[in-house]
Amino acid sequence: MRILGIVSSPRGGGNSELAVKEILSRFPGEERVMINLNSLDLQNCKACYSCVPLGKKCRIGDDLEFLIRNIKHSDKVVIAAPTYLLGVHTAVKRALDRLISIVGDYPKFNETDCVIVNPYGYADWEGSAREELILFAKKLHLKVLAEETILATLPGDSVRGENLDVLHRLADLLKSGKPAPEWGESVQNVCGRRVLTCPNCGSSLLQIMPAGDVRCNLCGSMMKLSRSDGGYILEYDPDWEHHFTHRSLDAHVDYLMEKKKLFLESRDEIKALQEKYSEMDWWFTPEDLRKRDEEGKGEGHHE
Ligand SMILES: Cc1cc2nc3c(=O)[nH]c(=O)nc-3n(C[C@H](O)[C@H](O)[C@H](O)COP(=O)(O)O)c2cc1C
Repeated sequence: MRILGIVSSPRGGGNSELAVKEILSRFPGEERVMINLNSLDLQNCKACYSCVPLGKKCRIGDDLEFLIRNIKHSDKVVIAAPTYLLGVHTAVKRALDRLISIVGDYPKFNETDCVIVNPYGYADWEGSAREELILFAKKLHLKVLAEETILATLPGDSVRGENLDVLHRLADLLKSGKPAPEWGESVQNVCGRRVLTCPNCGSSLLQIMPAGDVRCNLCGSMMKLSRSDGGYILEYDPDWEHHFTHRSLDAHVDYLMEKKKLFLESRDEIKALQEKYSEMDWWFTPEDLRKRDEEGKGEGHHE
């Protein structure tokens, strides 16, 4: 069995790295490999849409294919990335954007089991990194068994005290291949708080409609709030065509193809429109600032 740990932290020996190592250490005798997204050459998506239609690969010849091949060749995956300013660390987002090139490629993946760890350093400042990490795993066509957002500030905090128990539980879940019992429930413990979560994807990013309906902002599922044991739960329709069903993924591919066709057909019209705005040349570059400084027109030159 091959177990892959994906880390997205620039901090060597940081909480994400140690958390992954702790989980991997629970698989003695197995092949264990780790990748730090920060060490890969992963460039920004250029929005060229060369990857549309389905089957075409991303044209950027960097390490994206390396990452994807590693996912395909692994039997278990652990992903760990910290919260940075209420979102997930940049390297995850950069890689995530590139996964638009494999939106409809789910038949080529095995829905490999995955657990996610999200260390954050400042109580109540965990933000939405956990949801971005769930999306990252889903876009890699992985099967998320559990996610844990753990308070860990100084390097090493992720593998101390209660956090260590949490990591061991994640390792056990990964071994069993079964989702955590709370995964799929509409109330979960997130950062020590009991919160309503989407029973479909585990997200706590929920939109409450004036009529009382609830929409998951990650998978798009619609739910109803209902009273239970003095509190609330979410009633979920398991047949809802949420964003991660194969039909929705196919629909996304169709949509991209349709929009690309439309773009190619209306290219001249779009160019003419852009032309109109290109005259509005208000861009200011570091070179412009340097010239301005040389001319002695500092920050206060207009005063
Ligand atoms: C630039 C930066 C932004 C951060 N923003 C947050 C934040 O918004 N919320 C939070 O709880 N912790 C924040 N942290 C703290 C990290 O999430 C925390 O230290 C975490 O353990 C780092 O994981 P690592 O050791 O794997 O890099 C931030 C750290 C850095 C360097």
